[in-house]
Amino acid sequence: MTIGIIGSGAMGSGIAQVVATAGHTVRLLDQNAQALQRANQAIETSLNKLIEKGKLTTEAAAKIIAQVHLTQDMQAFMDCELVLEAIVEDLAVKQQLFRELEMVVPETCILASNTSSLSIASIASACQQPERFIGIHFFNPAPLMALVEVIPAVQTRAGLAEEVRALVESWGKLPVLAKDTPGFIVNRVARPFYGEAIRLLEEGVAGIATIDWAMTELGGFRMGPFQLMDFIGHDVNYRVTESVFTAFFFDPRYKPSFTQKRLFEAGYYGRKSGRGFYSYAPGTASPVPTRDAELGQRIVQRILAMLINEAMDALFLNVASHPDLELAMTKGVNYPKGLLAWADELGLPQVLGTLDSLYDEYHEDRYRASPLLRRMVRDVANGC
Ligand SMILES: NC(=O)c1ccc[n+]([C@@H]2O[C@H](COP(=O)([O-])OP(=O)(O)OC[C@H]3O[C@@H](n4cnc5c(N)ncnc54)[C@H](O)[C@@H]3O)[C@@H](O)[C@H]2O)c1
Repeated sequence: MTIGIIGSGAMGSGIAQVVATAGHTVRLLDQNAQALQRANQAIETSLNKLIEKGKLTTEAAAKIIAQVHLTQDMQAFMDCELVLEAIVEDLAVKQQLFRELEMVVPETCILASNTSSLSIASIASACQQPERFIGIHFFNPAPLMALVEVIPAVQTRAGLAEEVRALVESWGKLPVLAKDTPGFIVNRVARPFYGEAIRLLEEGVAGIATIDWAMTELGGFRMGPFQLMDFIGHDVNYRVTESVFTAFFFDPRYKPSFTQKRLFEAGYYGRKSGRGFYSYAPGTASPVPTRDAELGQRIVQRILAMLINEAMDALFLNVASHPDLELAMTKGVNYPKGLLAWADELGLPQVLGTLDSLYDEYHEDRYRASPLLRRMVRDVANGC
């Protein structure tokens, strides 16, 4: 199969590596010649690491590199069966790209976008044949992250999502099917990991180091919320939060925080700028957590209840199936357990109790429990 990829930045180069490794011929296009050269270099470096680890032979790596054809000319996509775009996150620019692309590719060519925050329907609407359009959302770095969200739009023809799902699986990835709603699965369900942690900080319940300690040591997450936000970068994380909030018609559940907005405005992006919630300047002492088990459990219980509620609501609204929700959070953001399984472990009444007491205390809509969670607790109580 010949696959076109447009945009050879962080995502496009990684995706090119994935599909070339799966044996496809890749045409990789970027408007910027230097970006193409950087992508070529990045793929080589990444493959060299696999050779060093003994996971790839030199011959196999050379073959993969030879499968990736760099181009700046869209005519190269004439023989493509699938074209995936990973260019700048701008609706008008993406729409214009697909208008031009449709004049070149065969009628049967599948068109896809790797967008994180735009609706698939809005990009597809620029196409002459929107029924062949679909979202294929990889995670960064694409060669290492197994999860891929497959997102059919309202215009997407019946059956295409299943075809794409099987194709993505043949690349050695774990595809999940998501509804075309803001943040798809992962970027929606994960919001409280950041938002509720910041809220705890703002309320003065605990400092960043204590919240991070609680979530890693007691919660079992690989990174604490503040460490993770600093790692992702507040430029990226704040923008995603803001765009999800806007796209949800300003549902208070997704409301961004002033704390993160100020970091973003100040250019304190996190690790990449040397300062975020933490300071990364050489010689700076890290803040010390208060290792209070009771406080730590309260922190974990509150953030976890919010995450579980988000997963429950995504299930309630058919954003994704039960197994796909679990796969998305364990493989897309490496959560230690699926949130729905975690809910069962904790006991649904306890999770609902945490949410309802927060709601009673604050009278804020962000703490409203999902109707599904409430129904399940009632069904269990009624012996259903
Ligand atoms: N970075 C992430 O963590 C991540 C994760 C998932 C999805 N995404 C999405 O993937 C897309 C790309 O993100 P990225 O981080 O790789 O960006 P990037 O800035 O690293 O790369 C984008 C590339 O697209 C090229 N480009 C821009 N406009 C173009 C055009 N009209 N024609 C051809 N090339 C063009 C740029 O020269 C650049 O090389 C975005 O839609 C983003 O939302 C990003």
